[in-house]
Amino acid sequence: MENPWKDVRLSDYENHMSLDGIGQLQELNCIMKGQFNDFAASSAMVLGVAGGNGLEHVDVKKYRRIYGIDVNESYLEKAKERHRDLDNVLELQCLDVITDANQLPQADLLIADLFVEYVGYEAFQIAVRQVRPTYVSCVIQINEADGFVSDSPYLHAFDRLQEVHHQMEGEKLTESLKTIGYGLINVKEHPMPNGKKLIRLDYSNMKALVINCSPVRNGATAEIVKIVSEQLSAKYEVKSICIDDYVFGFCRGCRACHHTAKCVMSDAAVIQEIMKEFDQADVIVSVAPSYWADVPGQFKAFIDRCTPWCNTHEPHATIQSGKKGYAIALRTGPNMPECERIIGSIEHFYGHLEIACAGHLGLTSIECKENVEPRKQEIIEFCKNV
Ligand SMILES: Cc1cc2nc3c(=O)[nH]c(=O)nc-3n(C[C@H](O)[C@H](O)[C@H](O)COP(=O)(O)O)c2cc1C
Repeated sequence: MENPWKDVRLSDYENHMSLDGIGQLQELNCIMKGQFNDFAASSAMVLGVAGGNGLEHVDVKKYRRIYGIDVNESYLEKAKERHRDLDNVLELQCLDVITDANQLPQADLLIADLFVEYVGYEAFQIAVRQVRPTYVSCVIQINEADGFVSDSPYLHAFDRLQEVHHQMEGEKLTESLKTIGYGLINVKEHPMPNGKKLIRLDYSNMKALVINCSPVRNGATAEIVKIVSEQLSAKYEVKSICIDDYVFGFCRGCRACHHTAKCVMSDAAVIQEIMKEFDQADVIVSVAPSYWADVPGQFKAFIDRCTPWCNTHEPHATIQSGKKGYAIALRTGPNMPECERIIGSIEHFYGHLEIACAGHLGLTSIECKENVEPRKQEIIEFCKNV
């Protein structure tokens, strides 16, 4: 079966989409501006690029390559003609994602607006796997009381699209991307004049682990963990844990792991469970209060139990490489050197796990959670660089 999009004239599509009562072309144009701006990406791919609506928002200082993919060659010709200024960055490819996904190049950001409805969740999953983006940003349309194509003088130009149309549900898209490692980081609804709704859903395959290294689950450290997690959730799929979620004994110093890379203690699985969280994360943020001028005992006990992973002996257990580690220390007293000692302990630990130390923050004069609110901006600024 020929893809029915090959028979839809661009003028019919664009005239229909920009009708006053529909207004999708204009809204999608605004949304795409955000999509190009919102992510740390230097290459992007637009699936179903059509005539290039929205490409005028590409910042050529930010993007070295933009791929525009469409099944209809004549759309791409128009896109090229309209965006001559992007000649050095724009690469247009005519291919059908359903049959030719294996020809898609790699890009940091994958944009798919009103596209998944025409290939289905499964073909989209295959395309995402092939493109291997860090971020996926999709727009889907819901509330289709009067059919998926709104009434307009151009309506019959779209008759055959019914053959390839899939009804979209945000939850299903999220579920399908989750199975290939992409977590939902942002959702925004855009109500449309005709009662329909466009929903922008952003996904990331970057994961952040934020650790409350204090045994207090609702204290100052927890408050900082909450702020950090909220901030990072715009870029990462975030998981936060508290050291007190786990029960394990002290390292006995037997050094068996120096020869085997394994811990002989009966509760070794608990430490492995925490290390699994480390392994799955791209970024680790440890937030530790000063307890007698060092990290709390529970966290120190955990560090000691990580000796099977310490790179000073062979063999040693490993977690995946390429991770970044951040440390935040807080204390009641006013001087910074004590925070630096705590940061030093955490960074020493990161170093032996081959986690790159990428930044730290010391917060003095914090006794309880009420003292965190006035420092929120400092924490937010720190998170901008994570
Ligand atoms: C056992 C213990 C020891 C502490 N030792 C220090 C210390 O040596 N220096 C300091 O500045 N604050 C010290 N503090 C204060 C904590 O660092 C501070 O209250 C922090 O905000 C506690 O965070 P949390 O409630 O999340 O654990 C100590 C607190 C406790 C409970």
